[in-house]
This record gives sequence, structure tokens and C-alpha cells, in this order.
Amino acid sequence: MKGLFTLRVLTIDQIMEIINLAIKFKNGLVKKYPGQKMVNLFYENSTRTQYSFQVAMINLGIAPLAVDLETSSVKKGETLYDTVRTFQSLGVSGVVIRHITDRFYEDLREIKVPIFNAGDGKSDHPTQTLLDLMTIYEEFGKFEGLKIAIVGDVTHSRVAHGAAEVMKRLGLEVYVSSPPQYRDDTAAHIELDEAIETCDIINLLRVQFERHAHEMEMSKEEYHRLYGLTVERQKRMKKGSIIMHPAPINRGVEIASECAECENARIYKQIENGVYVRMAVISLALDGFFDNIEIP
Ligand code: NCD
Repeated sequence: MKGLFTLRVLTIDQIMEIINLAIKFKNGLVKKYPGQKMVNLFYENSTRTQYSFQVAMINLGIAPLAVDLETSSVKKGETLYDTVRTFQSLGVSGVVIRHITDRFYEDLREIKVPIFNAGDGKSDHPTQTLLDLMTIYEEFGKFEGLKIAIVGDVTHSRVAHGAAEVMKRLGLEVYVSSPPQYRDDTAAHIELDEAIETCDIINLLRVQFERHAHEMEMSKEEYHRLYGLTVERQKRMKKGSIIMHPAPINRGVEIASECAECENARIYKQIENGVYVRMAVISLALDGFFDNIEIP
């Protein structure tokens, strides 16, 4: 298969090559792929991922097709494979997909054009992890030995699940800090107040209300007080440490509104870096970097 499915199958060298190319794009590298078309197929809502893929395509001279799945034959029950196969016949040179199903790409083994996973179920969100890594690398110039706490609704988060595995391989010390009902075995647990004072990176997660089977047992105010980045906690953060969040943010729940653009926050920088990371993966895919990927 061709494309970026999960970082779990890439080596550290390959991951660093993507990040380094993204940094080159940020520093002004120009690459163009005239005459090419690509398509975004988003079966779940998205602002940042969807439109930064689109901006990345435009920056590379690739025409993004404007597709609205609400008015497509998906509404007539067309399968994911048939929809993707259709766009392959229409001549696209890549397909970006976000889907509610974990490992949706297993149904797409026969597809010949590169596929970019823009988030699958609760498993992985490889371009989000890459832009998080790029943001960390720009900040600290290394990964080895940095301490990161992934904070919040871990169980429902593809961002947490995808990131933790790669971050551990890169030598980061990875912890999770979450309410007991949103905790799993992604990484060792750390109390939030300890994380605030000792971690280099506080990576907040959105409370994924739409994925919850039951309503949250506590109020949003209580969640914020117990598990959120309050203004008071931000003041106690380790010197030089940063706040990240994949966004969209729930202001006043996982993060105090005042902290979203405070001196420690890198949330809008992450969004900016998302464009360069997506330019890197698209350009590498078109140059054959992701050909013959084996999915276990
Ligand atoms: C994440 C997503 O949609 O998976 N956001 C994103 O891509 N920037 C996380 C989230 O929705 O909480």
C-alpha cells in the first residue's frame, strides 16, 4: 500500500526525515507538482486537519477537489472502497481520509494512489503527531529526555494513542494524566499537579463529548477544577515548559480561556506547523517515500 497510515510502521529515521522536510518548507523551500489533483474525504468533522491539508496542496501547486460527502453518493450507502476507487478513476494522485473506524485503510489494500490518514477512529492521527513533534523539536531542539504529560480524555483520543507510541520510541518520557474514567494503559499515570511542575510539555486533549456513551458524571466546571489547565496551574508550570492542544479547544473545560494564547501556549503554532508537515508528507508520497508500506 502507498501512503501514510500510522507512524507505528515508520522508523525513527523516516519520522525525522518528514520533520526535517517540514522545517525546510517552513524556511521557504518551494516544491511544485503542477497538474496534480487530490481529494479530502472527511467522514467526521474537522477544521484544522481538513483545511491545512487543503492549504498544503495549494502550496504545492496541487488542485484540491471540493467534495462534500453530505451531497455525495456516500449518502446512498456507497462503501469507502467504492468512493475512493471512484476518485482514483477520476485521476487524483492522493486521497486524504478521516474516518470513524479504527484502521479504515485495511479495506483499501487494492487502491493504487497514496492514502493519507487524517485520523482513524480512536487509533491514530499521524499528521497531528508529526506536527506535535515538529513543534516540540523547534522548541527544545531534541526529544530525548523530555518529559511530556498527555492530559485529559485519553480513552477516546486517537491523538493520545498515536502519539504515545512514537514519543516513547523517540526517547521522551511519556505520562498520562486523566480522570479515572478516561484512563487506559497508554502510559504511566501522573497526577496533574505534579505534571504541571515537572513536565516540559503539557499536551492537553479535548474532552471528546461526542464519543462518550454516557454523559460526563461531573460538571464542566468541576472537570476544569480537577483536571483542567486553570490559570493558577499555568502560573505553576515548570520554567520553559509549553502547553499544546490539538484543538478544537473547549474553553473553560480542559483549558482556561486565558491560557489559550498565554506565553506557554503553542496551540496556534501547532496549527501553523500542520501545514508544513502536510506539505512534507504529500511531497514525500508523490516522490515515492511511502510506496510499499506493509500494514501488519
Ligand atoms: C483532533 C481530532 O479531530 O482527532 N483534532 C485535530 O485533528 N486537530 C482531536 C480532537 O478532535 O479532539
